Amino acid sequence: MISTTQTFLNEVLSGLHQNPKTLSSKYFYDEEGSKIFQEIMDMPSYYLPRAELNIIQTQSLAIAELFRDKPVDLIELGAGDGRKMVHFVKKLQAKTSELTYWPLDISESILKVNKQLFEQEIPGILVKPLPGDFFQTLPEIKDRTHTRVVLFAGSNIGNFRKEKAIEFLKFVGEHLQMGDYFLLGVDLKKHPRIIRGAYDDPGGITKRFNLNLLKRINRELDGNFELKSFDHYATYHPITGASESFLISLEKQTVTIHGEQISFEKDEVIQTEISQKYDLPMLENLAVESGYQMDTIVTDSEKQFAWVLMKVTQN
Ligand code: AVJ
Repeated sequence: MISTTQTFLNEVLSGLHQNPKTLSSKYFYDEEGSKIFQEIMDMPSYYLPRAELNIIQTQSLAIAELFRDKPVDLIELGAGDGRKMVHFVKKLQAKTSELTYWPLDISESILKVNKQLFEQEIPGILVKPLPGDFFQTLPEIKDRTHTRVVLFAGSNIGNFRKEKAIEFLKFVGEHLQMGDYFLLGVDLKKHPRIIRGAYDDPGGITKRFNLNLLKRINRELDGNFELKSFDHYATYHPITGASESFLISLEKQTVTIHGEQISFEKDEVIQTEISQKYDLPMLENLAVESGYQMDTIVTDSEKQFAWVLMKVTQN
């Protein structure tokens, strides 16, 4: 068995042996899961991508202005195909004295698409793709003469609980120096009903996304989850800002994964995802506890989503 599959198996079994049971949201994105996530991004109730696009369209120039005449390395974590970010990088390229764009992503093939798009859309830009796990690739960026800006967009940090988010921001900060920046895209607290609608759609797309995790375990880890006997449930807590997703066992049952038996009570839950929402005091606190100083916060016109620019204060 190859090692990534072994890690997947170990994490799945240890998560399902916990009480309450958990599965990590990082395993949502196999080929089918990535397709379902595309469907989610097209859902009317899933406001996040539209809100972030509004920020890119209306705030890029203001952010770029902050780096006027400076040589900048823009390092994007989980860059993907880059389609959304082109507009921002174009503005940044126009204002900075020199810009290198470092897209980091697990997928080498998507980075080829990314590089081609950026070179076509932004003449003169230097694109240096780094394929792989960014915990490994980030330390490879050693240039210390440019201002480094690490971009982590899409509310992807929302999948971490507070302690994990701080640990992650600190880890990145350790590879930066004083005066470098972290630019973080986060989803903001808002009317609870809007958030619940984003994670529990009537068409059942999010349910399919959540259940696909069990389907993947069946296929890749020789599991026998009966998909029909699990339901999707999502809840949002307006004080903590945590939107949490669960799979609910609809009956008492036993599931076998790679020869190992896991039993479920009727109505027992598996926690599969947290999508953390922030308010301004929480963001301020996150920055400071992670070794940064809050610099600038911009939002979309409806104040649904934010880009948070924080400056490294330690190292
Ligand atoms: C990709 C982590 C930003 O939490 O909003 C969408 C994933 N999960 N619907 C999010 C997701 C259910 C999404 N992120």
